[in-house]
Amino acid sequence: MQDYHEFLAEVLISENDLQRRISELADEINRDYNGEDLILVCILRGGIVFLTDLMRRITIPHTLDFMVVSSYMVGARQSSGQARITLDLRTDIYNQNVLLIEDIIDSGYTLRAVLDLLRTRKPKSLDVCVLLDKVERREVDVPVRYRGFIIPDKFVFGYGLDVDEYYRNLTFVGALDTQKYHPED
Ligand code: IMP
Ligand code: MG
Repeated sequence: MQDYHEFLAEVLISENDLQRRISELADEINRDYNGEDLILVCILRGGIVFLTDLMRRITIPHTLDFMVVSSYMVGARQSSGQARITLDLRTDIYNQNVLLIEDIIDSGYTLRAVLDLLRTRKPKSLDVCVLLDKVERREVDVPVRYRGFIIPDKFVFGYGLDVDEYYRNLTFVGALDTQKYHPED
């Protein structure tokens, strides 16, 4: 395992900036869903770190559920353009307010697939809260209600985002120097 310092091109978003922005997002959510019940649906695995920080700042009643969507192959740095739902919700979302919690939108295929599926179950509301948005990479349109940061077209890791499944635990978002990353080490 390489030490991440060897391939960290730059810290794109610091721990402080992440925490400050997540507080703002939680404030908005608390205001918008005031008096309503809410289900936070985290898209695993990348969304987990964002979820846990965000939910601890959400003061309105809410429940949690999880989905697993696979779109990236290990080793691939590009979206495959296909998203497969490999773990579905346990909650019945009919007539419920659903807020999807996701780490990043790149092409948009992952969230598109999730939204298309969940909409068929007739929730009362269905919205997206995403931490990072690579807007210039978008291939399919996704409506985003809460957005943490718009980021440039760089492969990023940390704060839930992986490089070949590792480094999700870092407290900041870093950009990967692909020349200096060696997966076989
Ligand atoms: P999309 O389907 O192309 O929008 O891709 C979204 C998914 O790809 C996210 O849920 C992430 O798991 C993954 N992904 C996209 N960009 C990155 C990145 O820069 N680093 C790590 N994972 C990424
Ligand atoms: Mg993800």
